[in-house]
Amino acid sequence: MEKFRIGKYEEVDVLGYGTWLIGGNSSPDYSRDEYYVKVLTTAFELGYRLIDTAEYYGGGHTEELVGKALKKFNREEFFIISKVWPTHLHYDDVLKAAENSLRRLELKHVDLYLIHWPNPNVPIEETVSALERLVEEGKVRYIGVSNFSVQQLKEAIEATRKYDIVANEVKYSVWDRRVEDELLPFAEQNNVRIIAYTPLERGKGVKGTILDEMAKKYGKTVNQIALNYLISMKTIPIPKAEKREHMIENLGAVGWRIGEEDLNMIKRSL
Ligand SMILES: NC(=O)c1ccc[n+]([C@@H]2O[C@H](COP(=O)([O-])OP(=O)(O)OC[C@H]3O[C@@H](n4cnc5c(N)ncnc54)[C@H](OP(=O)(O)O)[C@@H]3O)[C@@H](O)[C@H]2O)c1
Repeated sequence: MEKFRIGKYEEVDVLGYGTWLIGGNSSPDYSRDEYYVKVLTTAFELGYRLIDTAEYYGGGHTEELVGKALKKFNREEFFIISKVWPTHLHYDDVLKAAENSLRRLELKHVDLYLIHWPNPNVPIEETVSALERLVEEGKVRYIGVSNFSVQQLKEAIEATRKYDIVANEVKYSVWDRRVEDELLPFAEQNNVRIIAYTPLERGKGVKGTILDEMAKKYGKTVNQIALNYLISMKTIPIPKAEKREHMIENLGAVGWRIGEEDLNMIKRSL
């Protein structure tokens, strides 16, 4: 898999795998564990190694399923992302939330730990300070944020003392390019990698003439063009897919690039 730099030293896959709705929505669904572990196992067998989860997903059960599926694989090959929910952003709550995620994932550390959403009622310094402690303790390798605006990201960066904010996970797709004006350039200048969630607009099959044209030109599917666009913009899309054929199709977005002129044409047309 092609790699992108994250933080100063880490190289990670340019395409990841999302886990929202695997094992429930905001509360656990224990009724299909075998099926979900199989789904995750298939994704790992196909080569997905950057895995996005959160304490919120399935009310914690998604992390349990990820942990279960990971057991048959070499953990060191994986880059596991989890997130702390905005009601847990006071210092002690962050530490507790991370412990709980590690217990559910059955891991000694997560690779990247994100603040899932900003919470204006908790000083960002307090949360960041707890995140930094988790790095000190080896429970988290890198720290970051999610759904942060430019201003909020700036404040998070300013709140760090020792460790950098290495990522901001935000909604971004070829059909929803709002982050391109300000957030993308700001993130690039500050060495913050953008992770693109809902990169396929939840598989709604949104099509556009220009994307169909590009799909034909490159011999790819519209979804592969859509994901490759995000990779070409130096961001990491994390599509979620339960179906094996979707997982395979999405992997086909890697290993080639849309040409500069075509990228510009897509930007002009959508
Ligand atoms: N940080 C945040 O606040 C936040 C918010 C939302 C999402 N996320 C993360 O981002 C991940 C991805 O976002 P998302 O799940 O919202 O949306 P998404 O990845 O854009 O869409 C997932 C949906 O698209 C379908 N799909 C996947 N590949 C496809 C393909 N090649 N062709 C047709 N349909 C396809 C999937 O179907 P099947 O499952 O049936 O295969 C699923 O229904 C989440 O799982 C989560 O990890 C983070």
